[in-house]
Amino acid sequence: MHLKTKYLGRNLCLEASVPSTNEIAKQLARQNVPQGLLVVAEEQTGGKGRIGRGWSSPKGRGLWFSVVLRPKFPPEEAPKCTLMAAVAVADAINCCGGITAKIKWPNDILFEGKKMVGILSEMGAEYGKLNYVVIGIGIDTHVEQEDLPEDVKSIAVSLHRVVTRNFTREELLAGIMNNLEDLCQEAEERGFDGIFDRWRNLSCTLHERVKVIAQDETYPGTALDIDRDGHLLVQRDDGRVTAVVAGDVSIRYAE
Ligand code: BTN
Repeated sequence: MHLKTKYLGRNLCLEASVPSTNEIAKQLARQNVPQGLLVVAEEQTGGKGRIGRGWSSPKGRGLWFSVVLRPKFPPEEAPKCTLMAAVAVADAINCCGGITAKIKWPNDILFEGKKMVGILSEMGAEYGKLNYVVIGIGIDTHVEQEDLPEDVKSIAVSLHRVVTRNFTREELLAGIMNNLEDLCQEAEERGFDGIFDRWRNLSCTLHERVKVIAQDETYPGTALDIDRDGHLLVQRDDGRVTAVVAGDVSIRYAE
């Protein structure tokens, strides 16, 4: 009823419990399923997060899902899908829940500084051709404090605690699929510039003091903007500007 897409989410694989919906979606993508396949699980036992972290996905407490896209652009463009997905999710959450959630670069979705959504994009490419992009999204819709691992208890928030309107998980999922399909079409036809402008409007990272934690160095600075590749431009305190690449680093807000 809420789903208005042509292809995204029309082919559904609904699972009770899986290690990770991203792993299932990648397996199916390699077996040539058409683009738009949506894998949803009630529970993940080995949910994967960014930078090798885990993602807690308790049964029935959230939306844990992955979609298979086959965009018509080269592999270098694929990382931009992660910022595009953040725009699709933030808009859908704000519209369904009547709140103002923001995006922390590159793609965490926060409400009043606490994380409610994580996104993990993975791609498959060979010989310069992009085969698939799997976008995995985890939304804490009904997660209670006791469901969370100790280290994230104080930095996470669940949607049900903050929304000003009631909505079903199906409604939210359909809203995300609708937004994501529109944005994919826009990216293929007109590139990412307009999408990145929407990302900027939803961002809570730009113009903030940040601490960049990379593999070989950690430094404070000010987040100036994102560049045309979606990298975060951070001005160090000595004036040098570094383009920070998602996947390599984690960003903390400086105290
Ligand atoms: C992060 O913020 O570190 C990214 C978390 C991504 C979690 C989602 S839940 C659905 C999909 N399956 C996974 O194993 N991970 C993603």
